[in-house]
Amino acid sequence: MQSKHLFLVLTAVMAMPIIVWAHGDAAPQPVDTTGLRPLGTEWLLSNPYRGDPKAIEIGSKGYNSNCARCHGLDVKSGGMAPDLRALEVNDQMDAWFLSRVINGAKRDDRVKMPPFENILSQEAMWAIRSYIDAQPDD
Ligand code: HEC
Repeated sequence: MQSKHLFLVLTAVMAMPIIVWAHGDAAPQPVDTTGLRPLGTEWLLSNPYRGDPKAIEIGSKGYNSNCARCHGLDVKSGGMAPDLRALEVNDQMDAWFLSRVINGAKRDDRVKMPPFENILSQEAMWAIRSYIDAQPDD
């Protein structure tokens, strides 16, 4: 029962990007990850680039063109979406981060955050995580 429900949710979430982007809010931006070690097709559970200056630089561009409109410039949330600086830097939160970015977030059938699977590469996702981690908390 539980897993059937999860399957339905995932199916619905995966069908969403078309609808979301059709609203013309802002087109997702591909991120050039040249210079980062390629990661292959298996999803990793922790950030392979944590603290890497090159990843932070690439992640800055990726964040600003894909996430800042909701999560705020310089990762300072304006209240529209959670402040991502609050996520602790550890393996568990890495896994949570990646699953959110892959699947997005839905509540009561409404898309709160679009899924980025097939939009951002895994390299881009972890680069963005590295950039977020590098932002100081207030
Ligand atoms: C359209 C607005 C929007 C965009 C664009 C967006 N998000 Fe989100 N994000 C949200 C909202 C809203 C939530 C809270 C969802 C909920 O209520 O469960 C969220 C939640 C999250 C969470 C979980 C936070 C927590 O405290 O547990 C992560 C991680 C995250 N987003 C990362 C990203 C990243 C990385 C990007 C860019 C690649 C991004 N988001 C783009 C709106 C957005």
